[in-house]
Amino acid sequence: MDNGKRKLANMSPEEKRNLAKQLLQEQTHQTKTPSQQTEREIQAEFYRFELLSGYRELQQQIEEMRRLNIQNPYFMAHEDVSNNTISIAGREYINYSGYNYLGMSGDPIVSKAAKEAIDKYGTSVSASRIVSGEIPIHSELEQELANLAGVESCLVFVSGYATNVTTIGHLFGPKDLLLHDALIHNSVVTGCQLSGARRIPFPHNDWQALDNLLAENRRYHERVLIILEGVYSMDGDIPELPKFIEVKKRHKALLMVDEAHSAGVLGPRGFGIGEHFGIKGTDIDLWMGTLSKAFASCGGYIAGCKEMVEYMKYLTPGAILYSVGLSPSNTGAALAAIRVMKAEPERVSRLQARSRFFLKRAQERSLNTGLSGGSAVVPVILGDSIKSLQLGQRLFERGINVQAMLYPSVPEEEARLRFFITAQHTEEQIKFTVDTVAEQLQELR
Ligand SMILES: Cc1ncc(COP(=O)(O)O)c(C=O)c1O
Repeated sequence: MDNGKRKLANMSPEEKRNLAKQLLQEQTHQTKTPSQQTEREIQAEFYRFELLSGYRELQQQIEEMRRLNIQNPYFMAHEDVSNNTISIAGREYINYSGYNYLGMSGDPIVSKAAKEAIDKYGTSVSASRIVSGEIPIHSELEQELANLAGVESCLVFVSGYATNVTTIGHLFGPKDLLLHDALIHNSVVTGCQLSGARRIPFPHNDWQALDNLLAENRRYHERVLIILEGVYSMDGDIPELPKFIEVKKRHKALLMVDEAHSAGVLGPRGFGIGEHFGIKGTDIDLWMGTLSKAFASCGGYIAGCKEMVEYMKYLTPGAILYSVGLSPSNTGAALAAIRVMKAEPERVSRLQARSRFFLKRAQERSLNTGLSGGSAVVPVILGDSIKSLQLGQRLFERGINVQAMLYPSVPEEEARLRFFITAQHTEEQIKFTVDTVAEQLQELR
């Protein structure tokens, strides 16, 4: 080691910081006045949004769509309820773009409950719950959700996305390890990043690979969380939950399941992936779900043991402390949707039958439905963004509304159309759809 390096190695972090500051100051004061520096060094793209590199890339993609004569399929306003049909610009379409799985959004009982909640409590609870934003239907809803999951307690949040971010961000820290399925939702990844914990994705659905990762890494960390989805939102497949439970128990880890697309969808009564596999609710440490899908509302929840929920309730920044309570109408709607689901289990069985029917017809027509099975999400994989957009447009012209899923939501070689099936779809609508997809795909190729 030469003299300078040795000196540097012996410096305290404080001394190193001061030295770096000093060098920086010397460098900036050598040649320019402050106004010259501003002009020369701070490029316009750092303070003008229209020059932001991400914005410019977006513009290029929109321009490319225009060049290829593809109508922009995003932000198309609908003029009635998003259900098995939808009205856009005055025309009715068969709709696969919305996750109104049980037809609860637009259901008269659910709408009435939302309106009654507004009449009673107003349109906002006007405070965070911990101070004075609590209304009785918050805890009624939380009890219903806890019952579905088969656990003691639950806490609702104003957004499903924020539920994952703030829960993982709050409960875990730099000494912890977070292992999530490689296809996990972006909200989970963002929560992991916020926590500052070490994060390792494991290959999709591969509980053996997870087991190996834990065998290698468990001992270096305090708490370890494994995160799965009940139904994967892009692929429509279901993880082998009992195997993951075995693994998590063996390694003394915690297990979180995001039920965004499995609550209301899986299990004979729609109680979710736990009911589907007949496991005990308490085998999962953190049940997470959204209110925006089968439950026709907006918001998210975490359910589990009462100690975890109490801890979250008083201390999670994005849940109770620094964010407003769930609005009366959203609370009333979700509560009513769960009660209607329990009173009318035929909605769940019809959803499951129609989803199976769609998948079977699609497979008979040799469409590439990937891993989908047993859920209400069925992709048709084309492996090419432009072709996916073109097929989406052809279907739209023929009265079918379905969204293309492109990079970065999925890898480019797996670009696809994603169909959400609902309990309201008829067999005729599904037959027409699958036949039209197969014909149009044939022509496109
Ligand atoms: C798996 C998963 N988790 C979380 C979310 C976020 O939920 P929300 O849209 O209700 O905020 C979604 C949204 O689609 C999702 O698919």
